[in-house]
Parts: sequence; structure tokens; C-alpha cells
Amino acid sequence: MTSRLVTVLEHITPTQNGDDATLAALKTRLILDSLRAQFIVAPRRLREMCSFMLHEMTIGLRPTQDGVPASTLRMLPSYVYKRDAGNANGIYYALDLGGTNFRVIRMLVRGGRMVQSLSEKFTIPKSEMSGDADSLFGFIARSVRQFMVNKDVQGDNDVQNNQTKALPLGFTFSFPVKQTGISSGELISWTKGFTAKGVEGHDVVKLLQHAFQKQGVNMNVVALCNDTVGTLITRYFDDATTEMGVILGTGSNACYWEKARNITKDADIVAFAQRHDSADGHTSEMVINMEFGNFDSTHVSVLPRTQFDDAIDQASPNRGAQRFEKMISGMYLGEISRQVLLYLASMGVLPASFGSSDRLAKAYSFHSKDNGLISADRTPGLMDTRQLLEEHYGVRVEDERARYIVREVCTLVIHRAAQLSGMAIAATLLKTGRQDNATVAVDGSVFEKTPGFRAVMQRTIQGLVGRGGADVRLTLTRDGSGFGAAFIAALASQGA
Ligand code: BGC
Repeated sequence: MTSRLVTVLEHITPTQNGDDATLAALKTRLILDSLRAQFIVAPRRLREMCSFMLHEMTIGLRPTQDGVPASTLRMLPSYVYKRDAGNANGIYYALDLGGTNFRVIRMLVRGGRMVQSLSEKFTIPKSEMSGDADSLFGFIARSVRQFMVNKDVQGDNDVQNNQTKALPLGFTFSFPVKQTGISSGELISWTKGFTAKGVEGHDVVKLLQHAFQKQGVNMNVVALCNDTVGTLITRYFDDATTEMGVILGTGSNACYWEKARNITKDADIVAFAQRHDSADGHTSEMVINMEFGNFDSTHVSVLPRTQFDDAIDQASPNRGAQRFEKMISGMYLGEISRQVLLYLASMGVLPASFGSSDRLAKAYSFHSKDNGLISADRTPGLMDTRQLLEEHYGVRVEDERARYIVREVCTLVIHRAAQLSGMAIAATLLKTGRQDNATVAVDGSVFEKTPGFRAVMQRTIQGLVGRGGADVRLTLTRDGSGFGAAFIAALASQGA
């Protein structure tokens, strides 16, 4: 909000008589108009962001150059090349760590197809998220052992030739990792509230392998991947037009197929392309993990930042980073709305009960799920919203108009997130030139569970890529992150 407007609003202090009611209504209108102007991203702004993202993608694939600012997109090579998986067979394990829950998966593959799977979810205690590497990876290794007991599959470790067979495992680790090969990579920095010490700057495969050894778990970590990469690969096995993997959940990110010869920041990848690309049209491609959550974080020059985004960033453990993620992810959507609601209460636009609620006073107390439910409320008089606010947050909202304002806030926050997510997909497809016929594999609670989210994304994509955007298929690919790791493990361990 501009400081001029804030000054004007501060001078409008209505009391109770008739004229003042008009002033109060004017103030409310000005404030709501200002919020709409900030949260509804205009087409021109979307185009600017899209162009800047394309630029950042291109720069991010090149070696860094003196005098040229580094890209805010990390554009990390995954070492997963496009190839046929038809001959992958066997039992593969996968571990999917990316938020407060992690999953252990056991998958039976025949001829490149999953024919059976078992899985179990474990919750990571807060103490392990913020403890150290030993306790975090020790907990994970113990959970894998527990899984094998629970599912009665210890027999997988059959003794062959007097040796117990180490089982191949793919590790989905959904944080920014600088990979140096298919089974090695260092965590660049934690996101999504994780702070465990001794992991940043270390090879997470080594940490996991070490923990397995200590816990007597006989697994061999043959592949490491990001959740976006797992999601893309899972869909790709069914649909060869899959161009991108996208996660819109607690955190957000995307990956896509890039021509290996364009990844000039890695000489080995370019050399691979030189060896394998052929005159008859074969072009090697590798999945690039964009880490788009960090887009435009250095100067926040094109993102539609508001005072609420700045406040969230300032109070976060990774200040100044992941600014895009902080506008579109499940971890933050509820918090953005909470900040707006409290602001509106402080300006007298919403009842004081918002400001005095102990529950709402706590940061991150307003859940993104509730944000979605309220935005989708179509009950007469918004009675569902009234009940939800009272039951979950102890806030009584008798005034129907106030409930409509709350719904509008939740909708604005979601709408902006969907516009920005669509913009990022459009930019990526424009980079590949495959915007006319592309499947985009998407997973994550924000995409899956937020009413209307997909429709706004689709409209935004179409607006940016033109008529071809109608053939961009946003396809929900549930649990792809974990299964994908098992597929990638299958490829890696067979050299398929
Ligand atoms: C991480 C990404 C991940 C995304 C979705 C982000 O916070 O940096 O690596 O893909 O969350 O889980």
C-alpha cells in the first residue's frame, strides 16, 4: 500500500454518527480497492515476470560470469537423462523427504511398469527437524527398518552368493541440492522450516548411507532426486509428452526437460551431448530442477510484493530467500491471509474480534486449508465461514458483510498464487518451445485441494502463451515424488 494512501486512511477516523458512517464506508472501500490492486496481477505485469523468468532460466544454465548478476533460479542439473525404461525390473525402494512427513515406498517393477507397491508415512518430530544431521538421518534410517518389519518384507534382503543383497533405493530429497551425479549432492540451504545442523553443505546421500550403516539397514542409495523430478518421471513413464514436473504444496518448485547441450555450466553434460546428439535429430535431454521458489529474491524487482509478504519474509528463518515460494506455497498462504485480516481489523474494516483472538495472534495459526475452504464458501450468508472462524479461531463474526470481506481476502491470496504459478509454467514451456502440446505433471495440496486454483492457472497460461496454451494439460500426479525416485533408482541401478 502506498504511504500516501496510508496517511489518508489514518486521517479518516470515523465515530458513530451518520456522516461518519459514510466516511467509514469510504475508508473500507479505499482499503479493499487497494488490496485488490495489489493482489490481482495485471496481464502486463504477468508478461514482465514471464520474460524475466525466461531470462533467469537462460542465465542460470550458463557458467557464472564476472559482472553478470547470478540467476535467482538455481537451474540444477539432475543427471536424469531422457531414456527408455522399458527393461527396468525388480524391487526398488524409495524414500520421500520433503516436509514434516516422509514416506517409505517399496515398489515392484516389471518391464518399466509398477506392478505392486507398499508404502508408509512417518512424521518427523520437530526436534529432529531442528536438531542435527545424526538425529534427523538416524530417525529416517530407523523408520525404514520399522517399515520393513511392519510390512514383513525383511526377506528382500535375501542372501545371494554368501552376501546379503543391498537393496537399491532412490532418495527424494525436496530441498535445493547441488547434485554432482545421480547419487550425490550437497544441500545448498534448508527451506520449509527445516534447520537441522550439519546438513547444509554436506552430501545428503552420504549422510543417509552412513545412518543406514549405523542402524544395520542394508540399502544402497543409487539415486537422489528432487520431488519435482520424481513427479515428472512418474508421469513420463505413462505419457511421453510430459514436459514438466511441478509441486505446489507446502513448498513450490518445478523441473523440465532441457537440451543437454544448453547446460553449458557443466562441461561433462555438454560433452555427453556431443557424444550422443546425432545429425538424424537425436538430442540428449536432462531434467533441470529450477528451484523456482527463489525466483526474483535478490531485488524483488518484478514480483508483486506487498507489506504482508515483506513481513513474512522478515520473520522467516530464510530471510531474503524463496520470495516467490513465500507467495504461492501452502506453508505461507494462510499466513498471508492472517496478516491481511489482522491489518483489516486494525484499520476498523473487520471487527475487533479478529485482533483480540489469541489463536489468530499466533504466527502461522491460520491454516492454508481453511483459507481454501473460506474462499470456496457459497453457503447463504457465508454460514460455513462463520462457523469455521468461530470453531477454529474463536472469532465470532456476526456481521455478514465482514464475512464477505474475509472470503474476499482468502480468495485474493489464492488467486495471486494461482496466477504466479501459471506464469512460471508458461515461462518454462516457452523456454522449451513445447507450449502447444505438453503435459505438466503437478502434485501438492495447494493444486489438488484449493478450489478454483487450477482454473486460474490454466487461464494465466493461456493468456501468456497464446492459443497453444489450451493444449497445456495440468495433470494431477499424486505421490509422484516418491514413486519417481524408485523409477529413477531402477534406471540408475540397471544403467537402462
Ligand atoms: C524446495 C524444493 C522443493 C519444493 C517442493 C522447496 O522449498 O526448495 O527443492 O522441490 O519445496 O517440495
